[in-house]
Parts: sequence; C-alpha cells; structure tokens
Amino acid sequence: MKQVTCTAPVNIAVIKYWGKRNEPLILPMNSSLSVTLHQDQLKTTTTVAANRNFTEDRIWLNGKEDNINQPRLQSCLREIRRLARKRRSGSGEDGVSRILNYKVHICSANNFPTAAGLASSAAGYACLVFTLAKLYGVEGELSGIARQGSGSACRSMYGGFVQWVMGEREDGKDSLAELVEPETHWPELRILILVASAEKKHVSSTAGMQTSVQTSPLLKLRAESVVPGRMNEMIEAIKKKDFEAFGQLTMKDSNQFHATCLDTYPPIFYLNQVSQRVIGLVHRYNAYYGRTKVAYSFDAGPNAVIFTLEPTVNEFVEVVKRFFPPESNGDPYLKGLPIQSAPLPQGLLAAVEPDVCRGGVRYVIVTQPGPGPVESQDPSLDLLGPDGLPKTTPEVTGSQEAFS
Ligand code: DP6
Repeated sequence: MKQVTCTAPVNIAVIKYWGKRNEPLILPMNSSLSVTLHQDQLKTTTTVAANRNFTEDRIWLNGKEDNINQPRLQSCLREIRRLARKRRSGSGEDGVSRILNYKVHICSANNFPTAAGLASSAAGYACLVFTLAKLYGVEGELSGIARQGSGSACRSMYGGFVQWVMGEREDGKDSLAELVEPETHWPELRILILVASAEKKHVSSTAGMQTSVQTSPLLKLRAESVVPGRMNEMIEAIKKKDFEAFGQLTMKDSNQFHATCLDTYPPIFYLNQVSQRVIGLVHRYNAYYGRTKVAYSFDAGPNAVIFTLEPTVNEFVEVVKRFFPPESNGDPYLKGLPIQSAPLPQGLLAAVEPDVCRGGVRYVIVTQPGPGPVESQDPSLDLLGPDGLPKTTPEVTGSQEAFS
C-alpha cells in the first residue's frame, strides 16, 4: 500500500472567470486572476491510498462516500494516470508502474463549511490533483489537469497572486495557471470573509455561467473588450503594491460579474440584502477617508470578501461589528488571525451612518495570502486508516469550527 496526504488552498478571483468557450475541457472565455488564501484558515486535506487489494476506485467527501464516476473526477484521474505512464515509459517495472495498476481510495475534507459558498471545488480539485501527482511521482505543470476538475481550481495550484491565462489552442494545452507574485510579495495584504449565509447557493457556478454564455450580450463584451485591459492593469497594480488601483479594479470587476448575472436570462441573483449593505458600507468608509482603504468582491454567493491592508484591518473589523452585530448565540464572531479592538473616530461613525443589521453577518474569517498545495509529513493528519477506509475523526467529517 502507498498513501499520501496533501493540503491545498482556496483562492478568490479579483478578475473573475465566468463563461466557458469549451465545456468538456473547461476552457474559459477570458483570463482571470486570483489571490490564494492562507491554509492556516481555509484548506482542503486529501489522502489517497493505492493498494493491490482495493477492488474499485472510491471517494469520500467530508465523511460521506460520493460518486467516483462523475465525469470531472474521472477526467482528473485519467489525465494524471496518463501523465504518470508517459513520464515512466521506458523506465521499466518500478514501484510507480506497479501502483498505477492498483485502484485508489480518496478521502477529502474541508476545514470550512462547504455550503458557505467559499469556492470549495477549487481547493478540492487542486488538492486531488496535487495528491495524486505525489502518489505517482509526477512533477511539473499540473494546473491544466486541475482545470479539468473545476476551472478556478487551476489557480489554487500556486500560492500568492495567480493568473489563469485563457490560451488560444483548441486542445486547451495553453490554458494554464501562472504565478504572478508569491505570497511573500505583499505582506500587508489582509482578507476578511464576511459569512453572510450558510445556505447552499441556488444556482451553481457551472450552471449559471452556461446560461450567461447562451443569453448575456454583456458577457461577450466583458470577455472580449474589458477583461484583457483589466488583466494588465491588475498585474501592474499587484507588482507595484498599489492598493488604490488594486481595490478599485477588484470592486469594478466583481460588480461587472454580477451585472452579467443580472443580464443573464432568466437573471441570476447571487447578492442579497446583506451583500448590498456591505457594498454601501465599503463605499462610505472609503469616501470618509477620501481613498480606497477597503475593497469588496463577491463570487457566486452572498458572502463578502474584503481586501484591505494591515493598518486598516482592526478599524474596519470594528466597523463591521458595529454594523452587523453578532447574534448573541455564543459562537465566535471573529476567526483566524488575531484582531485588536480599535477606537472609532466619531466623524467616521456619523459618515458611515450605521443602521444596524443584527445577525446579517454570522462570522468573519480573517486571513492573508498564502502558499500553494503542500504534502503533509505528519501521519496523524492522514484521513484514511490502515484499512484504507476513512478514519472517524472530526477532520474527516469536515469540522465547521476547525479554524486556527
Ligand atoms: C464566480 O470554477 O466553480 O468563483 O469551472 O464550472 O467548475 P467550473 O466553475 P467554477 O467557477 C468559479 C466562478 C467564480 C469566479 C472565479 O473564481 O473566477
């Protein structure tokens, strides 16, 4: 038996991917760019075991057995095995050639609620592909395989600031993720996730973007005429650590993505009233200071992702706490990196006009840019036991409170 355990991060796009030009290969209509979040706060863990006694490939997600025959899972398994065979061909019968003939058991769990709308498929597929590659000893470019699990997953194959270059080829071989800058490049950057609702999202990204491609003229305009320029501007803003430009572009691109959803027929609404209040609050906060100190971004759900810099984070969290006080149910409101309480200038409170929305935000996760996938060296983190079946620990079943 051979067994490997790895972890992989979540990423948040600041230039959004929305719309495919090729569905089966998952080739996008435009390039996109994201920030990889730190795995201390949000990560997927995956263990893969290969054993001659296993009779079939099997997968468990957050403690429950799932269907291994889903086409996207099968694409990833097939492609990584193909790559492993190719790299091994000619080197004769060795350990890897032997385990390539074995069936695998895969067990994967998130340390955050899957239904909270936090791109779990990106971290999940990135982790699966990375772990299988370690099992079969495959090195090098893997984002093209992760992409075939879920488009955004290709960006979770790197840490820091990552672009997914859309490519031109019909076979997708040039549609890959590339590192823009590593996680150490902008150490002051902080990211807050304002979890507005744990409801499962109504329209999945996959289905939503399919309808947008079929019906939204704005999507075509965006992909052809807006995103190429924004990609260049965003890369420049990141390289220069220019928060004013980074924040404005991030907000504009999130807004255009949601405008595209509204331009889809029938329209798709991912933002709710809490999201709209967060948008208003961010603009009033920035207006008070006369510059962009915080920026929001929303994916296919109502949770706000806030980008800011370290000197602003304590004050802005205080503002969020005032605006969206926690429901008094005893659950921790702040998770992740430590936050100090900060006095709020009187003028600021008046300027942001706090009209209180109790319980609108369930909790806030405080994090920062982080590294790409890593192999675990600690056997106690393995999700499969010596019998090749999931261990019955909270890590395997997906603990919702497992933020450090
Ligand atoms: C709004 O990668 O989940 O988060 O490729 O169909 O699996 P599929 O879609 P997915 O879409 C993510 C959309 C987004 C924007 C982004 O992450 O770029």
